[in-house]
Amino acid sequence: QQDRAIRPLRLAEYIGQPVVREQMELFIQAARGRREALDHTLIFGPPGLGKTTLANIIAQEMGVSLKSTSGPVLERPGDLAALLTNLESGDVLFIDEIHRLSPVVEEVLYPAMEDFQLDIMIGEGPAARSIKLDLPPFTLVGATTRAGMLTNPLRDRFGIVQRLEFYSVADLTTIVGRSAAILGLPTDAEGAFEIARRARGTPRIANRLLRRVRDFAQVRGEGRITRQMADLALNLLDVDEHGLDHQDRRLLLTLIEKFDGGPVGVDSLAAAISEERHTIEDVLEPYLIQQGYMMRTPRGRVVTRHAYLHFGLNLPARMEATT
Ligand code: ADE
Repeated sequence: QQDRAIRPLRLAEYIGQPVVREQMELFIQAARGRREALDHTLIFGPPGLGKTTLANIIAQEMGVSLKSTSGPVLERPGDLAALLTNLESGDVLFIDEIHRLSPVVEEVLYPAMEDFQLDIMIGEGPAARSIKLDLPPFTLVGATTRAGMLTNPLRDRFGIVQRLEFYSVADLTTIVGRSAAILGLPTDAEGAFEIARRARGTPRIANRLLRRVRDFAQVRGEGRITRQMADLALNLLDVDEHGLDHQDRRLLLTLIEKFDGGPVGVDSLAAAISEERHTIEDVLEPYLIQQGYMMRTPRGRVVTRHAYLHFGLNLPARMEATT
């Protein structure tokens, strides 16, 4: 996979997220100056915005190794203990989907984060005993799609919390241009822009679309990423004029046609489109809300006028009245 080749390795190559970049530059420089491990860092935001990339960059910039795991993989306290006791001083332990840690594993993490102490029970029954070990100072980098899904005691133990936002079209255009250059693809500025503006604010999607446009341009064109090649390829992929994909449109149209625009509970909506509730909450909805197509209200999900206008539908009377 060429994914690795197009991932930025240093903060200086990291495009967009200006607030995150400026803060992380400062905190990293300060920790390095004191020859300390960086404080534990929580990164949250929708999928594909670069949480894993940022964790890798933190390790690179600190000049340490990164060990990587994820919440669901750590089934027992011993799984976490094995990782913690393998860290060198200053290393980064990256835990993706950290909101999915089991409570017993989370308990082990608290003293490890706070005092660099490992405190676990080994064995069972009368032979059971508790062991305490000193750990080297390390940096826990946790990633999650929504900070609200973490328990309070866990969230409170992160000294640095970064929220990744959807990328602007301008930043995504730069990212597509950079990826195209790394992949050696001749690309027009308008071609990169067309991919960027239809990539749901998400670098992972932009890079995926770039590869599909490359396929299209190779077979149907002369290999050059032009605006026209991008447009034809994205239409073929069922990505519409405003970057909404098939699932996005299905969710909005179901809200409009089956639920009269809402409000409807997320579970009913999930059942109606045969989708996981979590996929709606973590993957589909964040972008649709950010773009103003729908809202979360205490009574459930509702579509906005913007959604009706997107599909060229007439506004319901209640929306006309409140103009
Ligand atoms: N690829 C994915 N995310 C990126 C970013 N933020 N900057 C540069 N390249 C990227």
